[in-house]
Amino acid sequence: MPTRSWPALLAFGVWLLLALVTLCIAPANAQGLVDAMRGPTPVANETKPPLLFPTENKDIRRTRNYTMQPPTIPHKIDGYQLDRDFNRCMFCHARTKSEETGSIPVSITHYMDRDNNVLAEVSPRRYFCTQCHVPQADTKPLVGNSFVDVETMLKRAGGEKGAKDGKGGSAKAGTSGTTSTK
Ligand code: HEC
Ligand code: HEC
Repeated sequence: MPTRSWPALLAFGVWLLLALVTLCIAPANAQGLVDAMRGPTPVANETKPPLLFPTENKDIRRTRNYTMQPPTIPHKIDGYQLDRDFNRCMFCHARTKSEETGSIPVSITHYMDRDNNVLAEVSPRRYFCTQCHVPQADTKPLVGNSFVDVETMLKRAGGEKGAKDGKGGSAKAGTSGTTSTK
């Protein structure tokens, strides 16, 4: 008959106790993790939706924060049909319609599939415009963020030095990037 070693059994006992304690503490810790948009509302409950703000209709194109940002829509889109039967956006934003409507034609990326083949029609993955483009509203952001434009980042002393001495430039930029996300 195999004999059990007491130290091993004791170690297992301690491990079991720790595991139990961790399990009991974990939910209490999770309560501290509050989603900025949900607030402290428990997952099972519904949050109070924020007020809807009126859409701006100023025809003023906003500056993009970075090159690949989908530009915000500077006009109202209320009632524009956008389903499998008709795309009201492309009615104005197609390449061939821009002269007549004064709109900015959708860029080439909207005709490209994921393998970068350029298609004749708008790519299915870019068909539902409002998946990426949102109208403008004069309101405070729902969640805070510490995004820093790359232009601002380049103007920082660290970035300039890195760019001048020609070495460690990217490392410097990386450092300031990490600082800004804090
Ligand atoms: C009646 C024509 C028309 C329709 C329909 C239309 N747009 Fe526009 N759009 C324009 C014009 C004109 C502009 C140029 C700025 C302005 O005058 O508002 C523009 C500007 C934009 C811009 C800004 C581009 C930039 O570089 O800043 C976006 C994004 C946009 N529209 C998206 C949409 C989406 C999405 C829809 C459908 C929900 C849509 N538009 C429907 C005419 C239209
Ligand atoms: C998957 C996200 C996505 C979808 C869907 C999408 N776009 Fe875009 N759009 C972008 C991004 C990102 C840019 C900026 C970079 C670029 O041109 O690809 C952009 C740029 C644009 C621009 C500015 C083009 C320029 O040359 O300045 C217009 C206008 C526009 N989109 C309209 C539309 C319309 C209309 C639709 C629907 C048919 C649409 N987009 C669907 C992501 C999207």
